[in-house]
Amino acid sequence: MNSHVRLPGIDQRIFRIGLGCMSLARSQSYGGVSQEKANRIVYAAIDAGITLFDNAPMYGDGDAEEKLGRALEGRRKHIVIATKASGPTLSREELTRDCEASLRRLRTDFIDLYQLHWNRRAVPMEESVQALAQLRGQGKIRSIGVCNFGPVDMKAFLALGSCVTDQIAYSLLTRAVEFELADLCARRGVGLICYSPLAQGLLTDRFGNADEVPAGRARTRHFAGNRPEATHGENGCEAEAFSAINAISKVAERLCTSLSHLALAWLLHRRDVTAVLPGASTPAQVKSNAEAMMIKLSTADVAELDAATEGVRLQMGANLDPWQDSGRIR
Ligand SMILES: NC(=O)c1ccc[n+]([C@@H]2O[C@H](COP(=O)([O-])OP(=O)(O)OC[C@H]3O[C@@H](n4cnc5c(N)ncnc54)[C@H](OP(=O)(O)O)[C@@H]3O)[C@@H](O)[C@H]2O)c1
Repeated sequence: MNSHVRLPGIDQRIFRIGLGCMSLARSQSYGGVSQEKANRIVYAAIDAGITLFDNAPMYGDGDAEEKLGRALEGRRKHIVIATKASGPTLSREELTRDCEASLRRLRTDFIDLYQLHWNRRAVPMEESVQALAQLRGQGKIRSIGVCNFGPVDMKAFLALGSCVTDQIAYSLLTRAVEFELADLCARRGVGLICYSPLAQGLLTDRFGNADEVPAGRARTRHFAGNRPEATHGENGCEAEAFSAINAISKVAERLCTSLSHLALAWLLHRRDVTAVLPGASTPAQVKSNAEAMMIKLSTADVAELDAATEGVRLQMGANLDPWQDSGRIR
C-alpha cells in the first residue's frame, strides 16, 4: 500500500491521508475552533506528514479558508491546498470571482486542486469547464477536480475537459461509489478522494447508539428521515448501521487497533482510492488519523469488513448523496 500519491499538475507528492478543514469552522455538524486551535491542528497535521488540506468557501462562509490561510503563512512550500467553487451557478464570472476570493482568504498565489463543489446545472457545463481551464492557464489553479459528481456528470465533464479527481462520500458505512463510480473513475484515470471517511464520527467509538448522535450529524440517510434536521424522506438504517459498527469494533479489537484507524485503513487498502480526508477538531485526532497509514490489513481482514457492512451498503443503495434522495448527484 503506497503512503503517497502524485496527481497530474501538482508537483508535491501527496500523503494519502489529508486534513478536511470543514470542522475548523462552525456548521450544522461542527462547533468550529478558534484561530489558535486551528493553528495547532494544522501544525499537528504538518508534523504528522500530512500535505493535503481540503477546504471550501462554504465552510463557515469563508471562515475555514481564512483560518487555514493564516495557519499556513510561512509554511506553504510543501503543502497541497485543495478548495472548491461552491457558488450557486458555476458561471464564468462567478468562478473567476470565487477563485480570487479563495486565493485572498487562503493567502496564496495559487490553489493546487480547484474542485467544483456540486454540479449546479445552472449554466452549460462547457462554460464552467472553460472558465476552469482559463484559471489554470492564468496560473491561479494548478489542477482541476470535481466533488459529488456521479457517473452521468463525470462522463459529461470528461467529454469537455480533463478532471484529476472526484471527491465523494466514501466510508465503511457509505459505499455507494462501489456500485458504478469507482470503476468509471479507475477506467478514466480520475482519482477518488474520500470525504467523511469516519462517517462524521460514527466510526470513532464515540456514539454507542443512534440516539446519541446529535441532530446536525444525524442528517445522513443512515438515520430516519423524521430526524429534526434531515432533508431526505427515507427510513434510514439505524439498526443496521450500529450493528455494523459493533461488528467493525470487534475486528478492531482483534487486530489491536481502533475503530477510526480501521475505518481509514480499509479505505486506503481499496484499489480505487487516491486519498482520504478525515476532519478533526483537535491536534490529537489529526495525529491519530495520520497514524492509520501504518495499519496493514490482510485480504481476509478487508473481506471481513466488507461483509460486516454489506447490509448497510445494500440499504443505502447506489445513491451517492449522503444527505438527500433528490437526485442531486447523477
Ligand atoms: N465535497 C463535499 O461535498 C464534502 C462534504 C463533506 C465533507 N467534505 C470534506 O471531508 C472532510 C471530512 O468530512 P467530515 O467532517 O464530514 O467527516 P469525517 O472526517 O468522517 O469526521 C470528522 C469528525 O470526526 C471526529 N473525529 C475525527 N478524527 C477522530 C479521531 N481520531 N477520534 C475521534 N473522533 C474523531 C471529529 O468530530 P468532533 O469534531 O466532534 O470531535 C471530526 O470533526 C471535511 O472537512 C471536508 O474537507 C467534503
